[in-house]
Order: sequence, then structure tokens, then C-alpha cells
Amino acid sequence: MITGKEFRQKYIDFFKSKGHIEIPSASLIPNNDPTVLFNTAGMQPLVPYLLGQTHPLGVRLVNCQKCLRTVDFDNIGDNTHHTFFQMLGNWSLGDYFKKESIAFSFEFLTSPKWLGIAKEKLAFTVYQGDSKVPKDEESANLWLSLGVSKDRIAYLNASNNFWSAGDVGPCGPDSEIFYWTGKEEAPKVFDPSNDKWVEIWNNVFMMYNRLSSGDVEPLPKKNVDTGMGFERTFAILSAKESAYETDLFSSVISLIEKLSNKKYSNHKKEMRIIADHIRASTFLIGDGCIPSNTERGYILRRLIRRAIRFANQLGIINNLSELAEEYIELYKDNYPELLQNKKTIIEELDKEEIKFRNTLTQGLRYLEHNAQIILETQKKLNFGDSELVFSGQFAFLLFQSYGFPVELSQEYLNEYGLKLIGKPIKINMKEYAEEFKKHQSVSKQGSEQKFKGGLSDNSEMTIKLHTATHILNEVLRKLVSDQIKQKGSNITAERLRFDFNLSRPMAQSEIKGVEEEVNKIIKQSLPIKKEEMSLDLAMKSEAQSEFGLKYPDKVTVYSIGNFSKEICMGPHVTNTKELGHFKILKEESCAAGIRRIKAILE
Ligand code: ALA
Repeated sequence: MITGKEFRQKYIDFFKSKGHIEIPSASLIPNNDPTVLFNTAGMQPLVPYLLGQTHPLGVRLVNCQKCLRTVDFDNIGDNTHHTFFQMLGNWSLGDYFKKESIAFSFEFLTSPKWLGIAKEKLAFTVYQGDSKVPKDEESANLWLSLGVSKDRIAYLNASNNFWSAGDVGPCGPDSEIFYWTGKEEAPKVFDPSNDKWVEIWNNVFMMYNRLSSGDVEPLPKKNVDTGMGFERTFAILSAKESAYETDLFSSVISLIEKLSNKKYSNHKKEMRIIADHIRASTFLIGDGCIPSNTERGYILRRLIRRAIRFANQLGIINNLSELAEEYIELYKDNYPELLQNKKTIIEELDKEEIKFRNTLTQGLRYLEHNAQIILETQKKLNFGDSELVFSGQFAFLLFQSYGFPVELSQEYLNEYGLKLIGKPIKINMKEYAEEFKKHQSVSKQGSEQKFKGGLSDNSEMTIKLHTATHILNEVLRKLVSDQIKQKGSNITAERLRFDFNLSRPMAQSEIKGVEEEVNKIIKQSLPIKKEEMSLDLAMKSEAQSEFGLKYPDKVTVYSIGNFSKEICMGPHVTNTKELGHFKILKEESCAAGIRRIKAILE
């Protein structure tokens, strides 16, 4: 049997032999797409090209794209779902359409030169049509023309065979390919509801753009977007129960067995969850995500803490970064960013593990104590069938003081209740949300006072980006225009965003120049000094201030060597050498006469 790497290469080579150009996988974190947290499909980074923009590498593309889906969280541990997964995809951007797409898929799967799968093991679905989109007889006929029996083709509705990544954007009818995983011979007639038929490949015929009104309009060009779940398909082709038994995971599972001194066969679910979550976390940190309490950082934190929870249950202590090291070894050839960011990956996982383990036992005690009270009260008062409800305020305290993401508390409470009285205990989520909001607005007031610069939190990365923002501000004045003033700033752990007055776009050469100059200043290892002074004195010393902001009489001024001086509430790093490498991702218009720069430190 071939290895995972060989399978991936076969797919790429096949499409290259059909005139496709291989494009690298984009980051898991979408570039400038606020509508999604992570890339959830191979086509996501290609949306502008599917909508009609010209791709610099041509009209036939192929790749293996890193993807992350959190909707399947509860299914993790089963045979076919993974939080992080890779999607093999090939695209036609206004070039070939159904005929070639279907022929390519069929050839790759069945030709002895490629995968050599017997066509008796395959079945196909096509779109049954609706009032706006016709029934896809064309695709069905194309499968028939390749020798597929008509009993192996099923017409299904939009929830199965009309694909779109979100509520708006490129979409279209699709045709899915299923593989028979049963040990016995595949039934002659295809029944898509039989779960021994597993979907392995989806060919989307992207010919529409869905508008926010819900209507679809035809795209200027008809595209093909295909996706094959790499892990799932590789497991099936390897005749394994799941990808965890293949070389994509097996060495990590062995390591978990060793660390816990327990057998995979007895603890499949827990071990799979640990393996899945740490793999996803390794790739997320490798792409610049850092654990935090908001958005992407929160998802990452949830993954790591859930893995710790199960590791703890299996008796594994403080070793999760060892699993990450194994993953880096396994995947570094295809994803060099893992090796480049190895230090950060290990450090962040260790940090998160130490932090959470400190509060895990106490938190669990708190949770069980309160769950116990709920059960006893129910018994005493003889509530009968009423719901067992856990206070939202308590759940918030578990999050706030013990670091339990609410989903994790809920998972524990479900298990706890089921074990003791055969009924889950439900957190009052409305109460939790109210408590969360209340707290957020309190801490927002606090942080607005603390960080006038628009920092979303005070993680290490945010602080670094804040100092970088000051350098950028001064460099812009020095290289672009001495009239430039800060018009706004917003910093998250992922990036800085800086708005300033300029009535024209910056030239590419200017952007490069600014980037280089910021890096030059960083390399000078300048110390950062903090001083309190009267607003009057600060203004006289020509410290920069944000236009339109009202300052108190007494202010704090931060200086970076002799290079920059700004009225600011901090916080900042102590020396520019801590910052690393500065990179501008984007320079764009933000409002009339205002430009916006998004930049990162790497
Ligand atoms: N974009 C399609 C999918 O993810 C191919 O299934």
C-alpha cells in the first residue's frame, strides 16, 4: 500500500498531467476575509478567482489545502471527521466544465495507472434540480457514458447536491462520488442512506453567485471546484477503519499509548480526540494563531484544553507538546511552516498546558460540587422529570477563574449527569451569555482606559504589535509624508491595523521601503522608555498624539530610543529587539483621505 505522502503526490501528478498548475496551500487563517474564521474548504482562498478575477497561474489549478472545521466538533473521535484536515482539489477557472471534470475524476479513481479502483465499488449522486436550477441530467449522462450503471446514480436535493461555502458567494450543483466500504460485495442498487457508502469526492459545477437576497445569478464564467477529503479517502483506500490507523496519525497514537501506558483499542475515542485536537492546534499555531479568549484564539484554546482534559483522564501529564513535535516531523516536508515555527508551537502548547493544569483539578472540584448540589436538590424536592440546570453564573466563573471553556464544562456536566442519574445537566446558556456580556463591557471600559491605542487584549503578541505600530507611525511620517497623523488603530493578537491620513494609495516601492525601515529600527535594539508628564509638556516635546482624541492633563509618554515619542497608555515591550520581523499584509483605502495598513510580526 502507498503512504499518505505518495497518495497526495499521485493526485497532484495526475492533475499536472492534465495541464494543471500546483498552487501552495494557503494559511488556515483567511487573508482579509472577515466572513470566516478559518479556511473550511480548498476553494476558499480562490473565491475572487471563482468570481471572475484572473488567477496569475492560469485556469487549471491543483493543490492540497489545509482546512479547519469546527462544526464537526462533537463527531471527533469517529471514523471520518477531523477538526483539521487536508483537501485535495482541482479547479477549472472558466476553462473545462462537467465533461472533463467527470472524466478526470473517473480516470484518476479507476485507471490502473493511478488508483485502479474497481468501478463496481463506486456510486454517484447528482442534483435533482429546483425551480431555479435544472435537474443535472448532463452529469448523470456523463457518468453513464463512462460505463457506470444507472442503478449507481442517485438524484438528490439541494441539501446534498448544491454546494456553497457560505450564505453568499460562488455556488452550484455538484456531483458526489461514493466508495463502498463494506466487506461484502457492493449492492447493485445505490442507496445513499446506507452508511457503508462513504463520500470521497465532490465535483462542484460553480456557475452561480448567491446574493444576500438569496437569489442566484449566473457567474461570468463557469468553473469547476472539486474537493477530496485527503484523510478520509486515504483511510478508505488503505482499507483501515479510520485515518488514525494510517501513517498520518499512527506514530502519534503510539506515542499517546506510551505516555498513558494504556492501549488504543481500549481508549479509542479519547486517544483519537487528543490526536485530532493536538494536530489541529499544531497547524493553527504554525499559521500564527495564539490561544486567547476571543474568536480564533478561543477555538484554539478550546481544542488544547479539551485535549488536556482527555489526556488527564488517561493519566498523561505535561506531554502534549511531544505529540506536536511528532506531527512536525510527520508533516514538515509538505508544510515547512511547521518547522519554521516549531519553537512557538512547542512554547504555546506548553504554556497553555501549564496554565490549564494549574486550575483543572480545582475547577473540576468546583464543577462537581455544584453538580452534586443540583442532583441532591432534585432528589430532595422530588422534581421528577424537570430539567437539571447548572447556573450560567457558575459556568462563567468556571471560565473566568478556572479556564474552563463553557463547552468543556457542558461536556463534563453531560457526562456527570448521565453517569449518576442517566440525564444530562444543562448549563443555562442565556444566563452565561448575559454574564459574559456584562463582564465584557466592564473589561472593555477598563481596557479602553488602559489601552487608548485600541488593543483588544494584552497578550504578548498584542503588546509587540502595539510597539510595532508606534514605529510604523513614525516611519510613515519620515518616508511618506510629514503630515501623517494616526487616525485610528486596532490591534489583535493576530495583526495590527493602523489608519492614517493620506489622499492617495501608497506605491508598492513605498510599502516595501516602509517595511524595510521598520525592520531596520527593530534591529537597532532600541530601548522603550515610559514617562509621566503634563499634557502641556508632552505637546511641547512634540510627542505624537492621536488626532481628535481628548487627553487628560497628565499623560504617559512612551519613547522608542530617540526615534519616536507618543502619548500612549501602553503597554509596550521593553526593547525593539523583541519584536521579530515586521511585514505589511495590505495597504488599502479605509475612508475618504484615510488609508489603512494591516501588518503582522513573524
Ligand atoms: N468545495 C467543495 C467541497 O468542499 C468541493 O466539498
